Amino acid sequence: MRVHINQAAIELVQGDITEQDTQAIVNAANTTLLGGGGVDGAIHRAAGPRLLRETSTLGGCATGDAKISGGYRLKADHVIHAVGPVYRKDDPDVARLLASAHRRSLEVALEHGVSTVAFPAISTGVYGYPLHEAAPIALGTTADFLRDHPQITLVRFVLFDQRALAAFEAALADLSRSDPNVQPD
Ligand code: APR
Repeated sequence: MRVHINQAAIELVQGDITEQDTQAIVNAANTTLLGGGGVDGAIHRAAGPRLLRETSTLGGCATGDAKISGGYRLKADHVIHAVGPVYRKDDPDVARLLASAHRRSLEVALEHGVSTVAFPAISTGVYGYPLHEAAPIALGTTADFLRDHPQITLVRFVLFDQRALAAFEAALADLSRSDPNVQPD
C-alpha cells in the first residue's frame, strides 16, 4: 500500500528490514545500543561486527531518541538506532515516546542528508506495544513530518508478518480518510 504527501511517499511492505535498499534503515534498539534480539539482532548480524564497534562509542540513547551509525555490510548506507518505549497499558507517556522515536529518527535522517528511510514496527515486539495502537502513532507522526520536510521523499514501513502489515494498512487507510494531506496513490 502506498500514499503520498505532496511529493513524498509512505509505503507499507511485508519483508525484512535488513534487506531494504533505502539510504537508511531504522533499528528498534535499546538504550545501550549494544544489540539485542529481534530487529536489533538481525541488523547487527547483517551489518557485521563493525556496527557494534561503532555503536559502542555512541554513549547509549535515551528512550524516544535516535542516533545514526554506518550501515557496513547492509545495503543501506546508514542505520538510525531508535529507542521506543516499553509498553505500559495505562501510561500516557508511551504514546509520546513512540511518536518521539519516529520524529527523532526522521530529524536525524534530515541532519545527515538522508531522503529515503525504512522503519520496522518499533516497540511492537519485545517491548509489547499493541500493533493497533502503535501503527496510527507511527504513521501519523511520519505524515506530519513529511508535510513539513519535503527533503524526505520516501518512508517505507517494513512489516515482518501479515498481522503487522494488516494493522498498518488499516491505520494508513484511516489516515488517508482523516488527513487531507495524505493522498492514496
Ligand atoms: N525485519 C522487520 N521487522 C522485524 C524483523 C526484521 N528482520 N525482525 C523482527 N521484526 C519485527 C517484529 O515482528 C516486531 O513487529 O519488528 C517489530 C519490533 O520488534 P523487536 O525487534 O522486538 O523490537 P521492540 O519491540 O522495539 O523491542 C526492542 O528488543 O531486540 C531487542 O535490543 C532490542 O531491547 C530492544 C528490544
